[in-house]
Amino acid sequence: MNRHLVPAVSALAVIVTFSAAAAAQEMKPDRAIKYRQGILQAMGWNMGVLGAMVKGEIPYDKDKAVRSATFIGELAQMPFDGFVPGSETGAPTKAKPDIWKERAKFDKLAQAMQAETLKLVAAAKTGDVAQLRTAAGATGKACSNCHDDFRNK
Ligand code: HEC
Repeated sequence: MNRHLVPAVSALAVIVTFSAAAAAQEMKPDRAIKYRQGILQAMGWNMGVLGAMVKGEIPYDKDKAVRSATFIGELAQMPFDGFVPGSETGAPTKAKPDIWKERAKFDKLAQAMQAETLKLVAAAKTGDVAQLRTAAGATGKACSNCHDDFRNK
């Protein structure tokens, strides 16, 4: 073999091995559950920042608001990958088994929430706290719409 190719090929082998390991890990229900909960927690944290700001519990700060809203917009794309089939159980979870029976409805609620988070980012960027308040309320509503149906108390 061309000796310049050897390092490249072994690097590729490492990548392939790593990806296979990562994929196998993702398929494990406990990993999937922890993954989705971690992302949802991070979304909740940033919603908390915006909620406190629009209620006047912490000072309004446009940059902070844009930062948290942007995080939420990005994070909102991520948790639903973790609702893989078979992850109804495997670690403590509040996900209702209905998610896997009514997946289309669940996905629709996820998309509705994702759409609200894009409006949230736009509202944060206006620098107008009233617009941020309205958008944060609408996003929060989109979160609870799904929690009401698909999350155990
Ligand atoms: C399409 C459905 C859906 C939407 C939309 C949704 N969630 Fe959830 N959320 C869930 C489910 C299901 C769980 C339970 C996950 C589990 O325990 O495995 C959950 C759990 C959580 C948790 C607890 C995580 C933990 O560690 O137990 C937080 C925090 C949370 N969501 C925040 C949010 C926020 C904030 C939004 C809106 C910006 C949101 N969720 C939108 C379905 C949704």
